[in-house]
Amino acid sequence: MEHIRHFLSMNDFSKQDIMDVIDRAEAMKRGEPGKGPAEPLKGKSVGLLFDKPSTRTRVSFDVGIQQLGGHAIFLNSRDIQLGRGEPIRDTARVLSRYLDAIVVRTFGQEIIEEFARWSGIPIINALTDRSHPCQILGDLLTLREVGLDIMNMKASWVGDGNNVANSWIYAAQKLGFSLVLACPKGYDPVVPIDRDNVRLTRDPVDAITGAQAISTDVWASMGQEGETLARQEAFQGFQLNSEILEHAAKPYYILHCLPAHRGEEISEELLESKDSLVWEEAENRLHVQKALLELLLSH
Ligand code: CP
Ligand code: NVA
Repeated sequence: MEHIRHFLSMNDFSKQDIMDVIDRAEAMKRGEPGKGPAEPLKGKSVGLLFDKPSTRTRVSFDVGIQQLGGHAIFLNSRDIQLGRGEPIRDTARVLSRYLDAIVVRTFGQEIIEEFARWSGIPIINALTDRSHPCQILGDLLTLREVGLDIMNMKASWVGDGNNVANSWIYAAQKLGFSLVLACPKGYDPVVPIDRDNVRLTRDPVDAITGAQAISTDVWASMGQEGETLARQEAFQGFQLNSEILEHAAKPYYILHCLPAHRGEEISEELLESKDSLVWEEAENRLHVQKALLELLLSH
């Protein structure tokens, strides 16, 4: 049987794969043709199966698929039989007979893994509770565009040890850059930190000191809305703002996957400052996902 390449986590990709996607995304952004067909998704249909809300991921995949000559079909999980209890293994096998790939946003990582186990077509992780690998591909492209050496940069994460933080850890483990994460006790990432270039601290100043790329994200992710108040208390002192950024390298760059809660994990002033790359970061989701689709689907 033909080997199917999924993208369920940064860990599914080698350092070379990551760099290939970023290189190709950069070329696509400049409008340069690749080695293959101009429309690598021509005649192909890609499902966008979403269990949670989305603006950036949904629209950038939909538009990216169209730009590559393909056809996107948005599937809200509540509107298909999956939402009424049809097993994942049945849904995956049936959809594999119509579609050429499925982009899945869901809750547990085990859900997307089960999907991939039964799927005859590539499955792409569009965010789970555990990881958000497409986001990190876009973030790495954004940092390289401003001139950072993404294999050797000093990156930091301040806030919740959530899906985006986990994917940052995998990226640092693959590429070798330095990553220091500051998370309050009880909110650590679930990905094991077992390399010398990745470190966890309780002190945001420690994480930010000398950092060139500083990321954060909301304190309560989708599905954790009931914990909002407890989290607001636990994350006091973990806001990214101009004062704390005094400790960063000069220049430094701010990333946030968005949507942001201004005045919570990041100040309005910093989010809108010249050091913030968030709008370019959001745009780059489109370019990296096009490069990813081309890689997984054109053979
Ligand atoms: N950053 C991100 O994935 O945004 P959406 O939830 O809007 O897709
Ligand atoms: N950590 C956030 C990311 C949203 C893009 C969430 O999972 O809700």
